[in-house]
Amino acid sequence: MSKVSVAATNDFCPQTLFVYGTRNEDTTPDFGLFCWFSYCWLDQLGVICAIGSTKRTLENIRRSKVFSANLVTESNLPLADYFGTADGRDADKMTVPVDWEASPKLDVPVLVDCPLCFELEVAQEIATNQEDGTVFICHIRNTLKDEALVSSAYSDQELLEKVAAVRTSHVDNYWSWDGRYLGKWNERAKEIKPDVEIGAAAMGN
Ligand SMILES: Cc1cc2nc3c(=O)[nH]c(=O)nc-3n(C[C@H](O)[C@H](O)[C@H](O)COP(=O)(O)O)c2cc1C
Repeated sequence: MSKVSVAATNDFCPQTLFVYGTRNEDTTPDFGLFCWFSYCWLDQLGVICAIGSTKRTLENIRRSKVFSANLVTESNLPLADYFGTADGRDADKMTVPVDWEASPKLDVPVLVDCPLCFELEVAQEIATNQEDGTVFICHIRNTLKDEALVSSAYSDQELLEKVAAVRTSHVDNYWSWDGRYLGKWNERAKEIKPDVEIGAAAMGN
């Protein structure tokens, strides 16, 4: 295979998406959408999250050191895209209907319509650039899974079909786990709020 050098890109590297749930200073919930998420080994499975610039989610994680990561699926994609489009520093972001609850261990907000949620506690923060870019290395303090998917006799393939996780690649498209096109970033959000404005931090990651 002959190759050419190109500008840095992760175009061919589909990423799983998560909605991060945090609490604002007054304990109300804020949710944001994130794809720079992966795993590491601490005393058990841990998580690595990159945040690209200043935003409400970052302020809240720095203050509380805890948050949730909720898997994005075809069912919650419009809401997730809304959380990645509207800016948490705008007073009206969280005025849309959101079915959420407090998690049992860390009391962080989790989405009800979500088959897999992690309750995360920051173990370490590493600055990555001058503009507040940062990486959090996190302990998974609890994992919440849809009860119907725990002790089932489903095959791995059947579970992936049922969960229907969403992926993104080549900024700004959404894809199903099996490759169907699911829309553009900031487009599905209009199913939640037709006149949603794209927030300052929404496209900058
Ligand atoms: C598909 C998608 C993926 C995103 N992934 C990230 C990410 O990995 N890191 C990041 O800092 N921002 C990411 N963003 C931007 C945040 O979702 C955006 O800044 C949002 O406003 C965060 O919510 P908040 O303002 O309530 O903190 C992404 C946005 C979209 C649409």
